Amino acid sequence: MYTEKVMEHFRNPRNVGEIEDADGVGEVGNAKCGDIMKIYLKIENGIIKDVKFKTFGCGSAIASSSMATELIKGKSIEEAMELTNKAVAEALDGLPAVKMHCSVLAEQAVKSALLDYSKKNNIVIEGLEDFNPDEDHHH
Ligand code: FES
Repeated sequence: MYTEKVMEHFRNPRNVGEIEDADGVGEVGNAKCGDIMKIYLKIENGIIKDVKFKTFGCGSAIASSSMATELIKGKSIEEAMELTNKAVAEALDGLPAVKMHCSVLAEQAVKSALLDYSKKNNIVIEGLEDFNPDEDHHH
C-alpha cells in the first residue's frame, strides 16, 4: 500500500521540531481525520533558510510534511509557493488515493506559514491573496 519512500520518511522524518524565532508559522488541520500540521520557516532575503515541522497525524501526513520541508528548504518564496500537494505525493512515489488529503495538508501548512510571514512583514506574496487554510480545498 505504501511506497518505500513513504515508509522511509515516516520512519526517519527530516526537519522535525520547531524554530523558536521563526519568521513564519503555519498551522493547519483536517477536520475529518483530526490531524494537525505545523510548519516553521526561517526566511532571509526571500530564501527559506530553515524549515521545521511538527505533525500530529497519520504516517502519510508525517511523510508528506517531511518531504515538503525537504522540497522547500533553500528555495525562494516563489518556488515554495509552487509546491503542490501533487508534487509532494509524487516525490514520495505516490500516496494511496485515500491518503492524498495528507499531502494537501502539507501544501496548506507551507502556504499558511508563508501567509503568516507576509502578514508580519507587510508584504504581498503572489498566489496567497485568496488563500484560506480553513476552507476545504479540493485538488
Ligand atoms: Fe488525515 Fe493523514 S489521515 S492527514
